[in-house]
Amino acid sequence: MITETSRFNEECQVEVERQGSDPVTSATTKEWMNNANRFKYSYHFSVLGRPIIQYPQDIVAMQELIWEIKPDLIIETGIAHGGSLIMSASMLALLDMCDAIESGATLNPRESKRKVLGIDIDIRAHNRAAIEAHPMASRIQMIQGSSIAPEIVEQVREVAKGHECILVCLDSNHTHAHVLAELRAYAPLTSVGSYCVVFDTIVEDMPADMFPDRPWGPDNNPKTAVWEYLRAHPEFEIDKSIQHKLLITVAPDGYLKRIA
Ligand SMILES: C[S@@+](CC[C@H](N)C(=O)[O-])C[C@H]1O[C@@H](n2cnc3c(N)ncnc32)[C@H](O)[C@@H]1O
Repeated sequence: MITETSRFNEECQVEVERQGSDPVTSATTKEWMNNANRFKYSYHFSVLGRPIIQYPQDIVAMQELIWEIKPDLIIETGIAHGGSLIMSASMLALLDMCDAIESGATLNPRESKRKVLGIDIDIRAHNRAAIEAHPMASRIQMIQGSSIAPEIVEQVREVAKGHECILVCLDSNHTHAHVLAELRAYAPLTSVGSYCVVFDTIVEDMPADMFPDRPWGPDNNPKTAVWEYLRAHPEFEIDKSIQHKLLITVAPDGYLKRIA
């Protein structure tokens, strides 16, 4: 049956596909992003008081995914100031609140199974202190170390064992080799129907001189790692509808849906 809602959704889908394949929109978006990045655009936002190094569009996409998937564990590599951990934790808190409203149960955040696990090679003392002092802290666990070190991967796998629905976000070192190793370590933890989100795939599409002080650039970045990983892993597919919707995103070809 066609309803007002189904008609609206269908219209949105058609428009998103059209805007995603429109060459003028694509070119002007790229030009805009290249300009905005000169001012470190993605560094200027915060979530519930903590700085987050993301584009607002990707923050909204993560909010949509968390609501749709309703994970009980979100694994994130790359903590920085903690904004993405706080954003994920706050969404998990809302999921718990919605469950409690529906079931009539009493809400006790400290007893919730839903949590966020962050891994960073360098958790600065002031960032750790601010994250641990945040009202969302009871849902957050942090591990310090390289995300691809075997002992760190083992700790993450141990935590994952106690969870049923897992969402993964990779946002640490952006070289091809590092992201490929992260994908091999953590993508298999992604639940079927959930996502492994790989940030900063946009590096592949940016001018080569955009990252003079970084080891990554065109041909050596998260997008090239995604492409290599997907060649051997048909259980994942790129959900292009997300990048077509956002247009402005640091993760083109980075929203990987686990389909099997
Ligand atoms: C782009 S920032 C993360 C931003 C964060 N996800 C957010 O949204 O605010 C990248 C982080 O990756 C961390 N990092 C770099 N190399 C790493 C590695 N080998 N293992 C884990 N973390 C690493 C850096 O210390 C830095 O904090």
